[in-house]
Amino acid sequence: MRVVIHATAEAAGLAAADLIARKIQQRPRAVLGLATGSTPLAVYRELARRHREEGLDFSQVTTFNLDEYVGLPGTHPQSYRYFMEEHLFRHLNVRPERTHVPDGRALDFDRHCESYERQISQAGGIDLQLLGIGTDGHIAFNEPGSSLGSRTRVKTLAGETIRDNARFFGGEDQVPRMAVTMGVGTILDSRQCLLLALGEHKARAIRDTVEGPVTAQVTASALQLHRDVVVILDEAAASLLARREYYDQVERVRQELELAQADRAVR
Ligand code: F6R
Repeated sequence: MRVVIHATAEAAGLAAADLIARKIQQRPRAVLGLATGSTPLAVYRELARRHREEGLDFSQVTTFNLDEYVGLPGTHPQSYRYFMEEHLFRHLNVRPERTHVPDGRALDFDRHCESYERQISQAGGIDLQLLGIGTDGHIAFNEPGSSLGSRTRVKTLAGETIRDNARFFGGEDQVPRMAVTMGVGTILDSRQCLLLALGEHKARAIRDTVEGPVTAQVTASALQLHRDVVVILDEAAASLLARREYYDQVERVRQELELAQADRAVR
């Protein structure tokens, strides 16, 4: 895992957006895995700005979102489809038929989940998966105890997640109890994962994810098994990491190497 710590949440968000933008520049037909929630908001604002002001082109990009609440139609203001339209898709030139969010009102969830997995494979797999993390260590809605090999399916939300998300719904009793979510195994199949965490309330989950054992009790810890993961943090989310100095050292060496390579390329 590469752990990159930025002084502020804003700088961390910009760094995450930069990584996604570079992926699209290198690979215009990139398949992106996307997340919702508070964490990616600044990332999406920056991607929209780059499209508007710098012409970052999404016309060939395909997207797959991690999850959706069961029972909410895409027109519901708290649905993740609505969130994506509002905060990202309508600001880009991405083709609507290339954006995928699980359907919270599917008639047959087993079939829908199988078809979601199939669509990901048919698109060639996910090149870069953006992830947030829950205070209970979940990625997507893979709550503690989820199988680390799980695929897209319906999951019951944990009490902690319902409490965390009550702010969007105006009360805990309004939060849906279930979600359709990519599995941990689905996420691990992505070619690269980018985990972004901001704020002190994520510090414990990040410590457990990066420095704890791999365990289904903290599903984000499964990312330790992936060969290409970048964890981007602000200071507050990094505050409980024991090996902080080492992560900074690795980044300094990387930067020196990049500078040396750029210097050689110029000569
Ligand atoms: C959302 C998702 C969740 C969130 C996590 C953090 O699509 O998959 O795992 O990333 O619950 O949410 P925020 O960013 O609101 O703290």
